[in-house]
Amino acid sequence: MAKNGNRNSSSTESPSPLLDVRDLVIEFRSRGETNLAVDGISFEVRKGETLAVVGESGSGKSVTAMSLTRLLPEEPVCRISGDILFEGRNLTRCSEREIRKFRGKEIAYIFQEPATSLNPVFTVGNQIAEAIKLHRPEVNDVEKEIIRSLDLVKIREPEKRFRDYPHQLSGGMQQRVMIAMALACHPKLLVADEPTTALDVTIQAQIMDLLRDLKQKLAMSIILITHNFGIVSGFADKVIVMFRGKIVEAGPTEEVLRNPQHAYTRALISCIPRMGVRQKRLTTIDYAELEKAGDQRLTENRNNGANTVE
Ligand SMILES: Nc1ncnc2c1ncn2[C@@H]1O[C@H](COP(=O)(O)OP(=O)(O)OP(=O)(O)O)[C@@H](O)[C@H]1O
Ligand SMILES: [Mg+2]
Repeated sequence: MAKNGNRNSSSTESPSPLLDVRDLVIEFRSRGETNLAVDGISFEVRKGETLAVVGESGSGKSVTAMSLTRLLPEEPVCRISGDILFEGRNLTRCSEREIRKFRGKEIAYIFQEPATSLNPVFTVGNQIAEAIKLHRPEVNDVEKEIIRSLDLVKIREPEKRFRDYPHQLSGGMQQRVMIAMALACHPKLLVADEPTTALDVTIQAQIMDLLRDLKQKLAMSIILITHNFGIVSGFADKVIVMFRGKIVEAGPTEEVLRNPQHAYTRALISCIPRMGVRQKRLTTIDYAELEKAGDQRLTENRNNGANTVE
């Protein structure tokens, strides 16, 4: 266990993390009311490491990811505090102009719905070209680079497909294009926010295989956001479990899966369907119990230092 009651990841030992988020708080304000979406979380991602962020709907996973490159509404609607250190640079102190150099270039995103993320009136080639021209002006032969990135995500006949419009592609192909677009700028950190949720099960497996393959080939860091513990095993080095804006459990993935400490983590893990195991009824989550357990655990963590994972 680490100093704060969380379990340490031993996957890499580089001296400083690529991303170091400290005491992040995200609040939304509307009509005089405040919604505390993220409540003082800390975590880090090292070079080449994959972090899974697991939690149910509304637990604060996406807003955490979007806060990294300031993709959330501005103040007074959304107020962010804490530190977001990327290669030692504090992104919370960057100007809007400076943050644009990180957004899409150093930190790239893949979102859940490829169909709504792609622009229907431009060819996929055009859309990838946009990203390359914006972030890698040094590239002379943009077309060759587009074909290379489509090839990287295993789209067959990329020299033909780059002239296609999004509606001409299946959901799985569209998600591959989104991944190609995100990777075309050679990001150091890829944030995949529920990248397979909108796809059917066999395509989900193909996209996860592709991401696994790319992770090894490109040695980049990944944050995988999901509510499904089932896709985390064998993919992420470490995991944080979010519940109502807080981290309730954190540690190396296989350890958390083998020996979950928090009742909410146990409830999420029990939702993973297992081959050959017949469940008589679906597991339901007892929120009153979880809140009690969560508060107790978080109090312990606070007393030990911070609500954090390293
Ligand atoms: N633009 C916004 N304005 C106001 N509140 C927001 C906004 N975006 C998110 N929130 C609120 O922040 C909280 C966390 O939302 P978030 O989208 O991070 O959840 P999530 O864990 O990603 O859920 P899901 O699994 O459904 O994607 C929710 O209460 C949500 O209503
Ligand atoms: Mg989300």
